[in-house]
Amino acid sequence: MTYTPNTDRYSTMKYNRCGNSGLLLPAVSLGLWHNFGSVDDFNNARNILLNAFDRGITHFDLANNYGPLPGSAEENFGKILKQNLSFYRDELIISTKAGYLMWDGPYGEWGSRKYMIASLDQSLKRMGLDYVDIFYSHRPDPETPLEETMSALDHMVKQGKALYAGISNYSAEQTAKASKILNELGTPCLIHQPRYSMLDRWVEDGLLNTLEKEGIGCIAFSPLAQGLLSDKYLKNIPADSRAANPHGFLQKSAIKPELIAKLTKLNELASERGQSLAQMALAWVLNEQRVTSVLIGARNVEQLEDSLKCLQSPEFSHEELDLIDGIL
Ligand SMILES: NC(=O)c1ccc[n+]([C@@H]2O[C@H](COP(=O)([O-])OP(=O)(O)OC[C@H]3O[C@@H](n4cnc5c(N)ncnc54)[C@H](OP(=O)(O)O)[C@@H]3O)[C@@H](O)[C@H]2O)c1
Repeated sequence: MTYTPNTDRYSTMKYNRCGNSGLLLPAVSLGLWHNFGSVDDFNNARNILLNAFDRGITHFDLANNYGPLPGSAEENFGKILKQNLSFYRDELIISTKAGYLMWDGPYGEWGSRKYMIASLDQSLKRMGLDYVDIFYSHRPDPETPLEETMSALDHMVKQGKALYAGISNYSAEQTAKASKILNELGTPCLIHQPRYSMLDRWVEDGLLNTLEKEGIGCIAFSPLAQGLLSDKYLKNIPADSRAANPHGFLQKSAIKPELIAKLTKLNELASERGQSLAQMALAWVLNEQRVTSVLIGARNVEQLEDSLKCLQSPEFSHEELDLIDGIL
């Protein structure tokens, strides 16, 4: 398939500085956790990705284990890059991570130097890349000294296999320690990737303050709480939704009547604001000034386009923000 990117692609996206770094990230980034694996429709995956690039999304987020099968999202991304985007490598910020189970034996997960370095080498091969822009420790490892995991990140940055280092799912306290170690090594932590949405606000309890103090950017994953923050579950569980998907991580049991009651009220408020609940939920996360980017997922181009309209969202009034807090 021949592809010529939209020449207007940088006119509508907003780009935010990532912490104290020189790097700008799009306010909306695209994650390849779901819908890009070997079980998914490759042409649909390609359409989502190319449409995202056409709309100014320059940042694509992966991890060693994304699929299913684990690794297949990186392989598919590598194919699309080679076939359609190879000319545009310098316009892309590509991230990957290591931390969760990827291969058998004692060296296939967590945060040892052995695992982290081997995993990035595998990811680069799968994607056909010389380097990634951001390499993350995907989760803190309670058994490995933090110094070891951080020095593995530093090593890969100094080797040129990653341009920046990041951490994900670290608590505020772990983040402060990791940041200190990375600063001492001369590779400041660029970014933290925590889960953050209207339905999961743990970052407000210390992490965002730490990130601000340390000059680290924040990219919020699952800002739609995996699709819960949309109107799709208000009446039933649609057959094509993540909750109904046997490969998905969202369990049907999460969809409880109390949750539906909250979502219904949020959906009414979104309608009054002239937007979809998904758009309001994304705009709400971006309303937090310390968030650099919302990291969305999309099952098709329609969802991507719907979500991108969060960038034209009306401002929230104090009353609306209080109302949302009250509902939640
Ligand atoms: N660091 C980590 O530990 C970690 C963990 C999880 C995710 N992530 C990253 O974050 C990315 C995003 O996570 P996520 O996929 O959970 O994000 P999300 O944006 O909260 O959920 C995406 C899902 O919501 C639904 N959706 C998306 N746009 C919609 C719209 N406009 N209207 C209605 N429904 C919509 C779709 O689900 P349906 O299929 O049901 O329609 C879609 O697959 C991942 O790809 C990954 O890169 C990182």
